[in-house]
Amino acid sequence: MKRVAIVALCALAPLMAKDYKSAIESPDATKILQKDKLPPPKHYKMPKQCITTDPLAIARGRYMFHNLNGKKAKTKPPKGLAKYVIVNGKKKPKQYGNCVACHNIEGAKGPGNVGPDLHNYKKHFIDSGVRSYQYVYQQIADARVHVPKTHMTINLTTKLFTPQEICEIASYVVSKKKEK
Ligand code: HEC
Repeated sequence: MKRVAIVALCALAPLMAKDYKSAIESPDATKILQKDKLPPPKHYKMPKQCITTDPLAIARGRYMFHNLNGKKAKTKPPKGLAKYVIVNGKKKPKQYGNCVACHNIEGAKGPGNVGPDLHNYKKHFIDSGVRSYQYVYQQIADARVHVPKTHMTINLTTKLFTPQEICEIASYVVSKKKEK
């Protein structure tokens, strides 16, 4: 009896499978995938006067570095930050940046460790001659030029950031910091 049931089930299986197939919606994702496809890696020349010691520019860089991408910012943004969102009809500063998701740095809260620790970046990387400001700019703009299979977000080629924002974040990364 059991065997009959199994044989019957096997015989019916293709029909059942057919039924399942029609019940599950399988939308064509090609368009979505095409939209998300990254353009090829791009070299960028750091704009003139990109790296600055202007405290407000560095404050904006710091703000972007430490904020996770999201709908609304947790702390008040410094003056001059460019992006806003409308939440319940009100204009609110947009939370964006996301560097701390992968990097530790002075004053980071709950940093990720996918990317290298950026504590004392200027001393360890710039003053030592290992990296240049141009390298930092390129890394934040499009890291694939340095590491083809990087896990870092591509920020300028995808227009996630403007060149000015990249300069401000880079200025923050290489700035002298009081926090630990
Ligand atoms: C998803 C993870 C991830 C995010 C988000 C991320 N990074 Fe990175 N970052 C990496 C990894 C991994 C590396 C190591 C080099 C590589 O693979 O490109 C790196 C390398 C770097 C370096 C070069 C360090 C060196 O070797 O001199 C800098 C500077 C840097 N990131 C800054 C940033 C800034 C600024 C942001 C935010 C705009 C950011 N990263 C966001 C993963 C990330």
